[in-house]
Amino acid sequence: MSDQSIDYDVEFRAITKRFGSLVAVNGVSLKVRKGEFLSLLGPSGCGKTTSLRMIAGFEQPDEGELLIGGSDAVGIPPYRRDVNTVFQQYALFPHMSILDNVCYGLKQRKVSRRERRAKAGEALELVQLTGRDSHRPAMLSGGQQQRVALARALVMNPRVLLLDEPLGALDLKLRKEMQIELKRIQDQVGITFIYVTHDQEEALSMSDRVAVMSNGVIEQLDTPRAIYDHPLTAFVADFIGDMNFLEGRVAESADGGYAIDAGEGVVVRGRGHPAGAAIVRVGIRPERIVVERGNGSGTANSARCEVLTKMYLGDQVQLILRLANGSEFVVREQRTSAAPAIDSLEPGDTATARWDEAAPLLMADLQPQKDGE
Ligand SMILES: Nc1ncnc2c1ncn2[C@@H]1O[C@H](COP(=O)(O)OP(=O)(O)OP(=O)(O)O)[C@@H](O)[C@H]1O
Ligand SMILES: [Mg+2]
Repeated sequence: MSDQSIDYDVEFRAITKRFGSLVAVNGVSLKVRKGEFLSLLGPSGCGKTTSLRMIAGFEQPDEGELLIGGSDAVGIPPYRRDVNTVFQQYALFPHMSILDNVCYGLKQRKVSRRERRAKAGEALELVQLTGRDSHRPAMLSGGQQQRVALARALVMNPRVLLLDEPLGALDLKLRKEMQIELKRIQDQVGITFIYVTHDQEEALSMSDRVAVMSNGVIEQLDTPRAIYDHPLTAFVADFIGDMNFLEGRVAESADGGYAIDAGEGVVVRGRGHPAGAAIVRVGIRPERIVVERGNGSGTANSARCEVLTKMYLGDQVQLILRLANGSEFVVREQRTSAAPAIDSLEPGDTATARWDEAAPLLMADLQPQKDGE
């Protein structure tokens, strides 16, 4: 394997960005592979937009190196970077036709009128918006305007397309449709997409890899599946989907398995090696827990509990349980059969929550952050 930076379209090397005393991006290293769909995911204020703006050239890092296409990008103005951005607010020119909006960047580049029109036509076809060339943006719906904004960026054929919450202004149904569209377009054009969102479902469904950010750092960078199945930190586990946590003292650790005493007869048996610490935390996904009526035996991975609430979520039933040790658990079960056992449980009932040995995930919050790639 070559170590050439040219294998990556964008590379952050220990980048820090401050606004006064506030550290918006804190020593981030990141390598974005050619042609991948990478999402920056995290709560409001974690530094997603700031990271994107540094790639676009609207902000400069205070520390560290930024490479685009293997070359140092620090100090290069936005218009000279091989990068285009699509924003949440489409920022189309209201007085120009759709076609002129899409042609605008090519005109700046002094591309001939004929070629401009041909390329804009292709881009509009790619985003499935043909026959509206002469219309003004105001005559289009939000979703259609976002397609124009996308066509306007794609027509420039950039090395990297930056998208900052591009679907944020759309209603849920249209948003879902556009997610599928965007993924298709990215597959078709093969341009590297760096996609900013705070919506975990969106990031998981579209991306090749997801960088989960919190407080200016990347907590974990991996495939959607690995992020969901093997979250490294409690923050990631909690931010991606729902997670039930138990904390306790390691009572036993041998042969790739461990037991944790979480108190009041709640014992967790899982796979793996707790990393040293005497007190550890495990997470169990709601869908990995089965609830049964009655007072089960007090064995490992089987905890006595009380049903606190019950909710119907369409195709699923959700219970909130209080375990014997006081922990609250969320449990969800698919309503596949006409009368699932969970249906008969009511608030106030005593029950037993069980899970198998593969369900508990060891949280390794104290592990050092993995480097970039
Ligand atoms: N120009 C600026 N001046 C001062 N502070 C800023 C500036 N831009 C961003 N910040 C601060 O930097 C931090 C990171 O902001 P950023 O916009 O990158 O967050 P974000 O992850 O994109 O959040 P959101 O999901 O709300 O868009 C925030 O605390 C924000 O207030
Ligand atoms: Mg933002």
